[in-house]
Amino acid sequence: MKCYLVTGGAGFIGANFVKYILKYAPEIQLIVLDALTYAGNLGTIASDISDNSRCVFVKGDICDKELVNKLFEEYPIDCVVNFAAESHVDRSIENPQLFLQTNILGTQNLLDGARHHWVTGKAENGYPLWKSNVRFHQVSTDEVYGSLGTGGYFTELTPLDPRSPYSASKTSADLIVKAYADTYKMPVSITRCSNNYGPYHFPEKLIPLIIKNILEGKQLPVYGDGSNVRDWLYVDDHCKAIYTVIEKGREGEVYNVGGHNERTNLEIVKTIIHTIYQILSREQHYRAMLKKQTILADGSIDISWINEGLITFVKDRLGHDQRYAIDPTKITNELGWTPQTMFDEGIIKTVRWYLDNQAWVEEVTSGDYQKYYEKMYGDR
Ligand code: NAD
Ligand code: TYD
Repeated sequence: MKCYLVTGGAGFIGANFVKYILKYAPEIQLIVLDALTYAGNLGTIASDISDNSRCVFVKGDICDKELVNKLFEEYPIDCVVNFAAESHVDRSIENPQLFLQTNILGTQNLLDGARHHWVTGKAENGYPLWKSNVRFHQVSTDEVYGSLGTGGYFTELTPLDPRSPYSASKTSADLIVKAYADTYKMPVSITRCSNNYGPYHFPEKLIPLIIKNILEGKQLPVYGDGSNVRDWLYVDDHCKAIYTVIEKGREGEVYNVGGHNERTNLEIVKTIIHTIYQILSREQHYRAMLKKQTILADGSIDISWINEGLITFVKDRLGHDQRYAIDPTKITNELGWTPQTMFDEGIIKTVRWYLDNQAWVEEVTSGDYQKYYEKMYGDR
């Protein structure tokens, strides 16, 4: 049995990855390390831990050297999958330092923990000898490439040109991973994925925030003129790509992950409005969860206000990247990976998931979320 140390496994993509591996890879045992920051929620993976002897949870910080060493001593870890990060661009604009601490120093601490436990000796040329079949996998982002104009795609050869504190910290992490590969011949891989969407996405990011606001009858904040473009991928397709790269990808390589699904933010917001409207038109029982309850003459709950009039253009994000778009040719040609869930299907699945899992939304937003929302959107 193989053993993966999955960091950040109580967050959005990490939790989906935990579920994916437990479902599709019976030969893999998981040690999940997560600090449970505002973005991490143990409830998301509680049943995966309790129902499965293949999954152990440890609460802790990837920057904690002693803890990381202890995990390597206690478990036969042969792969680190590093999801743990501060991940929200807007928060990185407010407080860059935390991003550098977690995303850069945390990654370096994990690299060192792995190096100390995976090196078995020294070769004649002075380079370390590594235990066989080990891998450090860094989960990175297309944001390391910066921003595109109207044409072109990010390939693995596109120069790194991060522009936000978040993307600069992720780029630095990629470079330190590469430095360990070059300096120590450490077996590493990196995936750089476009924007993900799907279940368990924290409602500070665009798609879940818009769904939450509609259900609460609130305005829908679109930064600037809504023309910025993101390339959206269903989260399970990202999980599959990471697993494929770890198991089949070449050591020391970077693989871009994306499904050629570019949309402007305005298009995304309009699609969510229409999707919710359509579901609530047909399935009236969902209307009971709306905060705005106007009863019509026929006794039904009014949903006519769920329309594009809810959209509010607000002050733009500082340094807002205009367009991201991934060229996934390398992962497709080399490893046969292609996305399975197309956007039209994925967005309906996602909206339905949120309609059916309001208790989860309430749980994850019960802490400081309200304060955050007022601070970020109050004066926009
Ligand atoms: P997220 O914010 O939902 O989850 C991050 C998780 O990391 C949380 O569970 C949090 O508790 C944990 N964490 C934070 N600091 C930690 C620390 N010091 N020690 C241990 N755990 C810590 O993020 P996400 O959207 O799931 O992103 C996961 C990874 O994927 C990140 O590295 C991100 O850069 C990358 N990524 C995200 C996207 C996207 O669209 N969300 C796209 C490409 C790449
Ligand atoms: P986000 O989900 O924060 O992801 P990222 O910044 O990593 O791409 O934002 C996606 C896009 O949506 C981005 O262009 C910013 C925009 N956006 C809004 O217009 N309004 C919002 O309230 C949020 C959170 C994002």
